[in-house]
Amino acid sequence: MTVQPQDKDLFDNAQAILRDNDRGAYTVPTKGLYPFQWNWDSCLTALGLRHFGEERAWTEVTTLLAHQWPDGMVPHIVFHVADEGYFPGPDVWACGRPTPTSGITQPPVLGYVLNRLFTEASDKTLARERALALTPKADAWHRWLYANRDPEGTGLVAILHPWESGRDNAIDWDEALARVPTEGVAPYQRRDTQHVNAAERPTQAEYDRYMWLVQHFRDLGWDNRRLHDASPFRVVDPGFNAILVRSDEALAELADALGLSDIATAARDRVAKATAAFAALWSDAAGQFLCFDRVADRLIESRSVGGVLPLFAGLGDTERLVATIRRWRDQVAFGVPSHDPADPRFDPRRYWRGPCWLIVNTMLADGLKRSGAGEAAAAIDADSLALIRTSGFAEYYDPTDGSGLGGRHFTWTAAMVVELLAGDRR
Ligand code: GLC
Repeated sequence: MTVQPQDKDLFDNAQAILRDNDRGAYTVPTKGLYPFQWNWDSCLTALGLRHFGEERAWTEVTTLLAHQWPDGMVPHIVFHVADEGYFPGPDVWACGRPTPTSGITQPPVLGYVLNRLFTEASDKTLARERALALTPKADAWHRWLYANRDPEGTGLVAILHPWESGRDNAIDWDEALARVPTEGVAPYQRRDTQHVNAAERPTQAEYDRYMWLVQHFRDLGWDNRRLHDASPFRVVDPGFNAILVRSDEALAELADALGLSDIATAARDRVAKATAAFAALWSDAAGQFLCFDRVADRLIESRSVGGVLPLFAGLGDTERLVATIRRWRDQVAFGVPSHDPADPRFDPRRYWRGPCWLIVNTMLADGLKRSGAGEAAAAIDADSLALIRTSGFAEYYDPTDGSGLGGRHFTWTAAMVVELLAGDRR
């Protein structure tokens, strides 16, 4: 691992954050605001952790998968400990799991991460042993996704709750969310706004609908065979689907290396089907992919970073997507904003409605490098480092002035910095 001397402090600070937020067998995204284990936070964090110890990195994903549901779902939160500082807690979800979890999932970046932990490992024996145990679990999750979130076999899966996208309050969900009622939502007290400025978080109107969906699914006994058709919110997110495609490609590679040929074949079949289905999400006018509202049966006119994330899986026309990113970037001081700054709904400080997120930058840059667009990737990496140098390890950043927003001392932000500075091991 070679870190340039001028980056030493930055690197040490990132390591200190990873250490502070380490709970032994899992990390928390940040103290206070998010005191449990989050699904895609943990997976991406494992990429940073491996630079300080590969065994600990494998443990991070092993712990997550130890809480996979019998049907294959990997939940978005695992409530390892009791903590009153977060809402909605385990009693609200009421999923009946031995260790409480939430009842929804998150972007399946796990397969991609497993393959990188494996192929770039120094300890090959450990890597083989862990990958052999975890690969079938990742495969079960992917099969669960297509079986339960694509019951008609279109090739693309739907999210049933905005939280599943990982981009909680993106403008993408506004229309579909407006259809979700709020009658009968039990009175509740938000905790997030006790930790963070409310102007940087989702609105109350959004929260009421988030809670209605949770109650609705709970009333259906968290029976995943019923939730899709029963949900008034069913949206096909190109970001989520692209992550799934990339993870399936990775899973196929990994399974081949491990001699698990059935898993490899099934994963490649899923990739082929999804890749063909992606064409229906492309918008020529927008120069990017759009979300599809499965209830209203139409594309959603919302130009968010979810629609350029397919770059992560090499989907779509790279040049056009790069041009779209460049057009956004030209309107702000730091990239990549999570929404088109030219849209009147763009809000540079409110969570997923404009701010930059380092994990998104990293996935975009990774996909661009893989597609041979090294220059575009380098520009994004430079923005990521500029944001960190300007404002430290925040949860997200204002693209207009680079100020840090949301939670601080943030785990996956630190992990991405370690990745950037320690260099690619490939
Ligand atoms: C927020 C983010 C989500 C993340 C979680 C924990 O809910 O939108 O993507 O996983 O916080 O950091």
